Amino acid sequence: MKIALIIIGIILLLIGSMFAYALYNPNHEVKPQTKVSENDVEKHVNHLLKTMSLKDKLKQLAGDTGQLLYVKLGIRFGLIKQFCINYAGRDEKNGIQPIAFSDGPRGITVGPSTNFPVAMARAATWDTDLENRVGDVIGQEARAQNANYFGGVCINLLRHPGWGRAQESYGEDPWLMGKMGVAVTEGVQQHNVMACAKHFALNSIEDSRFYVDVKVDDRTLREVYLPHYQMVIDAGVASIMNAYNKVNGEYCGHNKWLLTDVLRNEMGFEGFVTSDWIWGIYDGVKAIKAGMDVEMPMEMHSGQKLQKYIDEGTLSTEDVDKCVKRVLETKLKYLTREDPMVYTKDLVANEEHCKLALEAAEKSMVLLKNENQLLPLDKKKLSKVAVIGQLATSKETGDKGSSYFRPKYVVTPLEGITNALSGLASVVYSDGTNPEELKATVADADAVIVVAGYGPKEEGEFLMNDKAVEGRTQQDVINKGGDRFSLTLLEKDENLIDQVSKLNENVVVSLVGGSAIICENWKDKVSSVIMAWYSGMEGGNALANIIFGDVNPSGKLPFTVPVSQDQLPNFDPFAKEVTYGYYHGYTLFDEKEMKPAYAFGHGLSYTTFSISEPVIEQTELTENDTLNVRVNIKNTGNVSGDEIVQLYIGFENSMVERPKKLLRNFKRVSLQPGESKEILLQVKAQDMDWYNPDTRKWEVEKMEYQLFVGNSSESKDLKRTSFIIN
Ligand code: BGC
Repeated sequence: MKIALIIIGIILLLIGSMFAYALYNPNHEVKPQTKVSENDVEKHVNHLLKTMSLKDKLKQLAGDTGQLLYVKLGIRFGLIKQFCINYAGRDEKNGIQPIAFSDGPRGITVGPSTNFPVAMARAATWDTDLENRVGDVIGQEARAQNANYFGGVCINLLRHPGWGRAQESYGEDPWLMGKMGVAVTEGVQQHNVMACAKHFALNSIEDSRFYVDVKVDDRTLREVYLPHYQMVIDAGVASIMNAYNKVNGEYCGHNKWLLTDVLRNEMGFEGFVTSDWIWGIYDGVKAIKAGMDVEMPMEMHSGQKLQKYIDEGTLSTEDVDKCVKRVLETKLKYLTREDPMVYTKDLVANEEHCKLALEAAEKSMVLLKNENQLLPLDKKKLSKVAVIGQLATSKETGDKGSSYFRPKYVVTPLEGITNALSGLASVVYSDGTNPEELKATVADADAVIVVAGYGPKEEGEFLMNDKAVEGRTQQDVINKGGDRFSLTLLEKDENLIDQVSKLNENVVVSLVGGSAIICENWKDKVSSVIMAWYSGMEGGNALANIIFGDVNPSGKLPFTVPVSQDQLPNFDPFAKEVTYGYYHGYTLFDEKEMKPAYAFGHGLSYTTFSISEPVIEQTELTENDTLNVRVNIKNTGNVSGDEIVQLYIGFENSMVERPKKLLRNFKRVSLQPGESKEILLQVKAQDMDWYNPDTRKWEVEKMEYQLFVGNSSESKDLKRTSFIIN
């Protein structure tokens, strides 16, 4: 009996300490003990490299936590639904502070932070100033919660909208992706938080991410899949995370050609590379030799595990020093700078930050269709509004992978609509599962808002490991997130829309999701469709503001919505090998002269705009010049609104194969009714170049180029002219 009690006591003590350990988020000062001025960083690092022991150096190359991290993450994720900071490279003896990692991109995942709309939604704002302010808040909240390393700059290109993690990234176009990536990076890094761009490279299939081998040719890699990385590198991103997949036959984490020849020697990246977690590398020696610096989240193949290979001569101390140097130089550069402000806990999800989440959600929503101008609904003329669908009451802000955390609050669509109509009209709700209840709710309503789409079960990060996934069937992955095999709504949602449309003429569908949803089966049955995304903590309020016209919708699609899936590149979520071709998204639609359901850059407004013929200042340029284009944009309707003017360059006269056109500038313009503004759009001739695989150089062709300006990528929305580079 006594023994049993003692055993129970010990077990309880163990469980108690595990919980205490999990909840304990040590409040570490992120500044290094050794103060080094920015100019002396290199000197100090060289000194450290001479004086540190090998053991201490190896410590810099892996996460600090052992296997107990799993316990901690399990408890924190399962119970308090927040991540914990993960540290790497703490060395008090040598005065070196650790990397203190928090994930993103919806916000800082290690606490109840401001929960922004997902990155794909933010891409739909086409607003780099806003994205920079989002980064600013993320940076502040990172520091207020003791993180100094932000793993949330996800810039993998959306080659196919079925990609499970599409929501974390910025769409199908490298230019838009790069501009948004730079905006968030600069916003975050101004707070001396090191931003990490991920996942390098070609990671855009989720279910097979741990093993798929992505084959790519030299031009496609550089012109399509890396330009956005080049843009964040040029903007000074501190760090890069390698992808799990293989590229051209080698895991990215072991890929010397990719991490050293391309990333460092060709693209000029000077920061450090961390591994994607747990399965990012399998061989420490290969990884170090390839240029992969820090293994995360813990020492599995690197760190002290490398000692043995150094002893036996397979790895040299010079190889180790190269990595340690990059880590120390970057850390010291960021962690020794003066801070622009003081970071206190009350910054986390404060009123101003939550307002920014609202602004981002409002600007992100895309009005896809608005027949007979059903929207905006006039609050004063309504007596009963029906809200339908399980997602109308859902507090999900995206998937439940690494970007997930539980914010202070989430306003659901039903709450937002109810608040907006409070005292004006009644709001009735049905989840749509009971036909009788549905009929009673919908039949005599003035308008019906159906909230339909996806959640963490249908799309998102896929958390099974490689061994478990090989050889699986579609049935094995149903309801487990990951990639979408079909881009249509779930059958139950399509049936629901069908039922509702038979009962009421005034139907608005608000779509929840992180990427393209094919609407062809039902879009003619309803009046209005809004792409509302995973819209963050303020999403319900934003949706109501759009529906009732307090805010004029202004979002534009950051991807093409096809009519059917066979218009898209092949997409096999279980692929062991895949070749990424030169065309996808709008370049593929242009090339094959296909008509999309909704074009890249499409989005309606409650007002109308006219965009003038573009005027080019100087129609003959040299390759060192900048093209200056002026257009006049006028709000020709009755309400104020924002329009996003897009500029594409056309390559019809190229001597080599090139896309018909590529986005090269865009600007969001706010206009009052009747107001017009002249805007200047610039493009450097250098940004019209192509990669010549024979000379291994970027070249600007001397020829006549086309210039397109308008409010979507579709020809009918674009004004055309031309200019010459000679
Ligand atoms: C994801 C990364 C993430 C990391 C840590 C990995 O599974 O692929 O994007 O940063 O986990 O959360």
